[in-house]
Parts: sequence; structure tokens; C-alpha cells
Amino acid sequence: MNEILSAQKEGVLTLTFNRPAKMNAINLAMYSELVAQLRSAATNSEVRAVLFVAEGPHFTAGNDIFDFLENPGVDMDAVGFQFIFELHNFPKPLIAVVQGSAVGIGTTMLLHCDVVLATPTAVFSLPFVTLGLVPEAGSSYLFPALVGYQRAAEILFTGKSFDAQAGKEMGLVGTIAQDALEQGIAVAAQIASQPPTAVTNTKALLKSASHHAVTEVIKAEGALFGMALHSDEARDALMKFAKRRGAL
Ligand code: COA
Repeated sequence: MNEILSAQKEGVLTLTFNRPAKMNAINLAMYSELVAQLRSAATNSEVRAVLFVAEGPHFTAGNDIFDFLENPGVDMDAVGFQFIFELHNFPKPLIAVVQGSAVGIGTTMLLHCDVVLATPTAVFSLPFVTLGLVPEAGSSYLFPALVGYQRAAEILFTGKSFDAQAGKEMGLVGTIAQDALEQGIAVAAQIASQPPTAVTNTKALLKSASHHAVTEVIKAEGALFGMALHSDEARDALMKFAKRRGAL
């Protein structure tokens, strides 16, 4: 079964997380496919916008915890970090539709999306500290810039989740609707019908003030994240998850 589905129609590439039995947790093969799809979409003039959606009741439970346990050797060449850099450097609009849980990268990737829609069921969480890790994907810069320092610090330090309404108040989510998927498809189609050079130039301008700073933050986070994965704090927390699910 392909765990990342791709479909291209009228200028919109739709990428679907398709591992619902595992809450769409993203494993290494899924990251590789996402990277390949984004790299090809960046230079394919037939693609004018990318829409991220998910199969089943949840957007994604974030990085596959078992991959963290089995492959803790995370560095800048790791596919997870390649995915983050592809998101950060992607020149065309990224749209996401979130339902249910969006954990870890499931929330931080939204900070790189240009339009985010959610159903009322959406729940966001950034449990990096709880897992003995540090924030990734530039979120230690982008999240406080979006929601304010204290709110970001409280959420990151406590690991507490927040719902769709809070996400909207913070500016992480633009629209909450029962029919978020239909609205997401419609807005992606509308963007794809616009003059493409004007769209990509506008995105470049919107990102220009922070782009370099975010690149540096992603690298700094990556170095700390790689070290943290080898720490006792992370090992204990990740093993706890695995043991609870009877996997160890
Ligand atoms: N990695 C691997 N598998 C995961 C996963 C993850 N991040 N999140 C969920 N799954 C799997 C579970 O192992 C379970 O599979 P199983 O039925 O074969 O055992 C299935 O998805 C359903 O998850 P479960 O934990 O039973 O659902 P729940 O409703 O009790 O709890 C969560 C939901 C999101 C609270 C819980 O799954 C969780 O904490 N997941 C980890 C999230 C996380 O920390 N991600 C990394 C962030 S950096």
C-alpha cells in the first residue's frame, strides 16, 4: 500500500498521508516520497500549488516513534530534515487541511503552509520537550513569531495540546469548517488558476524577511535534535510509548 498518495489535477498536486491504522505517523519511506514529490513539483510548471490532506480521522501523529528508536542517527541528510528543507524552500503555495490529531511535524509543517484549514475535530500538539526532544522545522522561531513568546513557551514547555479554535485565534489556522476538505480543494484550485509567476514572486516576497533566519534556526534545531535523540531523556520517553503499545 502506498502510504503517500499523489494526484495531480488542474495545477494542484494533492499529497495524502495514507497510513490511517498508525494515525498517519510518518515513517522514513513516507518522508522519502514526500521529498521526491515536492522536489519534482517545485520545477514542474504543471504544478501550481500543493495540497496536503490525510486519510482517516487524523492528520498525522507525527514522526514514527519506532523510527526514532531504531534510527536515532538524525542529521541534516536524514529524510525528515530533507522534508523540512523542501517545505521551507518550496516556491509555490502549500495548502493543508487538518482533521483530528496533528502531532509534532504534523503541526510544525503547518508553519510552512500558506493556507491552513481545519475541521472542528483538529487538535494540535508539539510534545517535543515531553519526549526529551527539542522543537524542529524552524518552529522555535516561527511559532513564537506567530503566537507570541509566552504562549509559544507555555505550549512547548508543557507539551499541552490545543484545539482548532485556539489554533485559529493564534493564526495557525485560517479557516475552521466541517467541509474544510472541500474548501481546501476549492482554494487550491483558485490559487492554481492565478498567474503563476505573480504567485511565486508574491510567496518569495512574503517569505523574504525571515527566510535566511529560519534556515539557520532549522540547522541549529537539527543539531540539538540529533543529540537529544541519543539522550536518556528521549530514550526513556520513546520507550515508554513503545512499551505502552506492547511493542517492546
Ligand atoms: N509513531 C508510530 N506509531 C504511532 C504513532 C507514532 N508517532 N502515533 C500513533 N501510532 C500508532 C500506535 O502505535 C497505534 O498502533 P497499534 O494499534 O498498531 O499499536 C495506532 O497508531 C493508534 O495509536 P494509539 O496510541 O493507540 O491511539 P490513542 O488514541 O490511544 O493515542 C496519541 C493517540 C496521538 C495520543 C498517541 O498515539 C501518541 O502519543 N502518539 C505519538 C505521538 C508523538 O509523540 N509523535 C511524535 C512527535 S515528535
